[in-house]
Amino acid sequence: MLKVDDINVYYGNIHALKGVSLDINQGEIVTLIGANGAGKSTLLKTVSGLLKPKQGNIILDGQSIIGKAAQTIVKLGLSHVPEGRRVFANLTVEENLELGAFLRKDKAGIKKDMESVFERFPHLLERRKQLSGTLSGGEQQMLAIGRAIMARPRLLLLDEPSMGLAPLLVKTIFQIIDDINKSGTTILLVEQNANMALSIANRAYVIETGRVVLSGTAEELNASEQVKQAYLGMQ
Ligand SMILES: Nc1ncnc2c1ncn2[C@@H]1O[C@H](COP(=O)(O)OP(=O)(O)OP(=O)(O)O)[C@@H](O)[C@H]1O
Ligand SMILES: [Mg+2]
Repeated sequence: MLKVDDINVYYGNIHALKGVSLDINQGEIVTLIGANGAGKSTLLKTVSGLLKPKQGNIILDGQSIIGKAAQTIVKLGLSHVPEGRRVFANLTVEENLELGAFLRKDKAGIKKDMESVFERFPHLLERRKQLSGTLSGGEQQMLAIGRAIMARPRLLLLDEPSMGLAPLLVKTIFQIIDDINKSGTTILLVEQNANMALSIANRAYVIETGRVVLSGTAEELNASEQVKQAYLGMQ
């Protein structure tokens, strides 16, 4: 479904991604594990069109998306939930969800999807008229995911959805991600919580200072000494 082929991304003189390649098959959950500053968010931003690679290619469903506007990429079925649960604080929960569907014209479908977001996140239903800035951190994260779902993505990019959440809520968020995947959405999940990420992922890539240093099935990486030492047991 997605092929990232040898991309190089720079911020000025900083070489943030150094020849990164990865593949995602339809239906998978693929997780990207790495320490602070490894380049995980940079990779997601490049895939969703917010950053342009200097070299390399990104292919979605057989078509190169290099140079396409972020909004065109959303139309092609790719949604990105950025790091830090960014919601529009001065808009209500409902208005934030409506914005997620701003490229869609099918009113009936939008209404149905909003209902299914509320089914998935009952907390949001109770707070549908509340300003999003007054929600708790966990609720804002759910809203950010809900908003991305409103675009009806086939491929969902999630950047550290569990960051800063209480342990019980972390479990809930991972269950929801697994659920979204089971209902047919392919997922690229960036996480520092490697334990939890590997528990729901099919495959994983480990990224260190802008390079993929290891990849394999979730089982393989769970069993890898290198991964155990560097990333497991962190939580
Ligand atoms: N806007 C920017 N300008 C300059 N350098 C940047 C910018 N954003 C990121 N970088 C640098 O690029 C590298 C990769 O950053 P990135 O945010 O992709 O890491 P990350 O793996 O997502 O880290 P974290 O786990 O802390 O979110 C880092 O060295 C970072 O300092
Ligand atoms: Mg990041």
